[in-house]
Amino acid sequence: MALVRRALHSGDGASRVRALGLDFPNPIGLAAGFDKDAVGYEALGALGFGFIEVGTLTAEPQPGNPTPRLFRLPGDRALINRMGFNNHGSADAVARLQRPHETIVGVNIGKTKVVPEEEAIGDYVASAKRVGPLADYVVVNVSSPNTAGLRDLQATEKLRPLLSAVREALNEVSPARRVPLLVKIAPDLADEDVDAIAELALDLGLDGIIATNTTIRREGLTSDAAEVRRCGAGGLSGPPLHERSLDVLKRLRGRVGDRLVLISVGGIETAEQAWERIEAGATLVQIYTAFVYEGPLLPSRLARGVAELKQKGTVP
Ligand SMILES: Cc1cc2nc3c(=O)[nH]c(=O)nc-3n(C[C@H](O)[C@H](O)[C@H](O)COP(=O)(O)O)c2cc1C
Repeated sequence: MALVRRALHSGDGASRVRALGLDFPNPIGLAAGFDKDAVGYEALGALGFGFIEVGTLTAEPQPGNPTPRLFRLPGDRALINRMGFNNHGSADAVARLQRPHETIVGVNIGKTKVVPEEEAIGDYVASAKRVGPLADYVVVNVSSPNTAGLRDLQATEKLRPLLSAVREALNEVSPARRVPLLVKIAPDLADEDVDAIAELALDLGLDGIIATNTTIRREGLTSDAAEVRRCGAGGLSGPPLHERSLDVLKRLRGRVGDRLVLISVGGIETAEQAWERIEAGATLVQIYTAFVYEGPLLPSRLARGVAELKQKGTVP
């Protein structure tokens, strides 16, 4: 693995990013949902990613939705998924997250399906307490479309107590090291709701926002409508998300100035697009769907490409 890491990480320092109190080797991350159970983050990190976000982990283990639950729309280089947070639970992941790790690891937490909404905070707090001491940053995921009611937690009257409780739990379990806390939002929020979450994040002293998760919309697709219908319910990812994800990023950066870290995700496929996000205010970016279509050489290609664009100071 060390050989792969040496070959695929440029190591020249040109693409380093200092954020969240961490020193990222490059700004290209793997988005949540690929390494749900934190089994492969060191190997994935060796491929050239600057950081890996594991999870979504829930407090209780759960199987997720029945298969088939993941579909390709190759004509759009997109995916539709309704995985439903299949994972072995946050307690199970703890053993594999033991520090120190060579790869920067964010841990994304969500709500166990069978836990009713009134008990959601306790479910998130249980996971936060387990993973907090081991995570380089923690993400509260309130934006996946495949757990009923989850996205309702984005309403500020629900989000405020949830994020406050998770912040407190992290302080409690990691008093010596302040664990950065971010919230991941959906692209389907109305602009006013994006603004409200930005204000809330500032108010609560959060460290950042990840925008965006998958969309329940089916716009911007060239695939045959019947093919899209056959996939059924779920979150759409890949290029059809690009425009809205970029819009949400610009809106957020406009609202928060330089006070928050913004991680931009949704439809990024090329170094030029990653650089466009950085120019638009992203501190870091993440990919998922393009990695599925392009394969293991994509992260190092993107990292190198972004470093070159940065050195040239190219405006996209
Ligand atoms: C199969 C699949 C599973 C995902 N699982 C999660 C998850 O567990 N938690 C989460 O926050 N996002 C999850 N996502 C969303 C991605 O992290 C990302 O936000 C989204 O796919 C947009 O990026 P992309 O267009 O580069 O794929 C998942 C996406 C896919 C395609």
